[in-house]
Amino acid sequence: MRIPVIAGNWKMHKTVDEALTFLKTLRSGNLPGKVETVICAPYPALPALVEAAEGSGIGIGAQNLHWAEEGAYTGEVSARMLTDIGVRYAIIGHSERRAYFAETDETVNRKGKTALQHGLVPILCVGESLEEREQERTKQVVREQIVRALEGLGSEEVKRVILAYEPIWAIGTGRASTAEDAGEVIGFIRRTVADLYDQQVANEVRMLYGGSVKPDNIEAFLAEAEIDGALVGGASLDPESFRQLIAAGGKKR
Ligand code: PGA
Repeated sequence: MRIPVIAGNWKMHKTVDEALTFLKTLRSGNLPGKVETVICAPYPALPALVEAAEGSGIGIGAQNLHWAEEGAYTGEVSARMLTDIGVRYAIIGHSERRAYFAETDETVNRKGKTALQHGLVPILCVGESLEEREQERTKQVVREQIVRALEGLGSEEVKRVILAYEPIWAIGTGRASTAEDAGEVIGFIRRTVADLYDQQVANEVRMLYGGSVKPDNIEAFLAEAEIDGALVGGASLDPESFRQLIAAGGKKR
């Protein structure tokens, strides 16, 4: 039985004060227990969020990290710095980082390994562009990204990874994938993991859909057996909307 995951990706939004107001509002209502809730926030808000989330069951995540232990990498943040302040997750290989910050399958692989070595849960993102989808290359592209992202990871490590399928054309566009299409691609990703490891490992890995998930479409995604939750950008910024997404996650069976 895979525990559903609802993860917010705040991207470059919210000051410390805004983050704390969000969390206070979110905590003022009931949150369902049977869903793993994660907020991935910008670095400056992380320490305050970790403290404010204590006892709530909400996990706090970063949106990136560097693969090296430490060193001359101006502007970067290491896994040890994140775990030191109580961060438990890190988004890795988001398509915005691949597009604007030159991340490659190789850096994604290195970052994933470092995250796991430090006990962080990597939320590893894959997904095809509109052009690749139109050329009917979605599965080929996603398979390649998965194979390269997981290269060198053992079974026990892979079981701790959360995979997020985010078609690039669906991110921030209001144009979500259909639940059926997302379910099919995620089913394919699970078969890919089974090919690389075995079925039992594949059955344990949580796999999320991301791309224009909102309170009014999340239930359709969660109704797909293969989809274990969502990685949500825009709709995670408002506490009421995020609460509705968590509530939907709590009803997944
Ligand atoms: P969106 O972003 O929900 O705003 O489409 C999703 C993501 O980038 O993770």
